[in-house]
Amino acid sequence: MVETIENINTPAFYIREEMIGEAFMREALLDKVMGKQRFRKSSEKLRRGYLPSAGLALVAVHPVDERILATIRLWDIVAGLDSSGQPVKALLLGPLAVDLDFKNRGLGAALMTHAIEKAAILGHGAILLVGDPQYYQRFGFSADKTALLSMPGPYEQHRFLSLELIADYLDGAKGILKPAGKKTPVIKYSIRMKKAV
Ligand SMILES: CC(C)(COP(=O)(O)OP(=O)(O)OC[C@H]1O[C@@H](n2cnc3c(N)ncnc32)[C@H](O)[C@@H]1OP(=O)(O)O)[C@@H](O)C(=O)NCCC(=O)NCCS
Repeated sequence: MVETIENINTPAFYIREEMIGEAFMREALLDKVMGKQRFRKSSEKLRRGYLPSAGLALVAVHPVDERILATIRLWDIVAGLDSSGQPVKALLLGPLAVDLDFKNRGLGAALMTHAIEKAAILGHGAILLVGDPQYYQRFGFSADKTALLSMPGPYEQHRFLSLELIADYLDGAKGILKPAGKKTPVIKYSIRMKKAV
């Protein structure tokens, strides 16, 4: 008899921070689940060239071989200005993706819940995202507080959602979202050129 993960009393997955060296595996999963068109999303303008917010690049991994089954990352952004003209620091969520072979088994929900709890513990005030309202509303996201905010590119307003981790945090926030994270380090190499003879 072939034993499945479930019937040998092992958890089906566990969640931890993504580790250095796992980017290739994560990108392969994203290619498989979302394709290359993910790079054309407006959210990408807030992510490209930046590191995820500290502690908020999470993966669900297989308990035996540690392969990545699902990924979620959150990014530091400024969500416009408040009524006193001060920048509103917040997080942008995405991409969230689950391996096609593990869909509808609670991995997406587990990563969402874990990420939201961790963002709140870290003191963040709000999370924004562009995604399916039917999926994200179960975690408390709605379009109620995004009417005066906009993405830096094309998007559908009814899919532009937010969740406040601190009550009324986004009240009065107005403007275009901007990236606010640490930049991805660029390693520059120089090579000695041979003189032409
Ligand atoms: C969307 C996604 C992250 C959900 O993760 P998952 O682990 O498969 O889903 P969960 O087990 O957490 O939740 C399953 C439930 O969500 C629903 N659901 C899944 N995707 C949905 C969607 N796009 N819109 C609405 N509901 C959705 C399922 O029908 C199921 O509903 P039920 O609980 O009433 O049966 C995953 O399917 C995925 O990676 N999709 C492709 C990438 C993507 O679209 N990501 C961003 C979402 S906007």
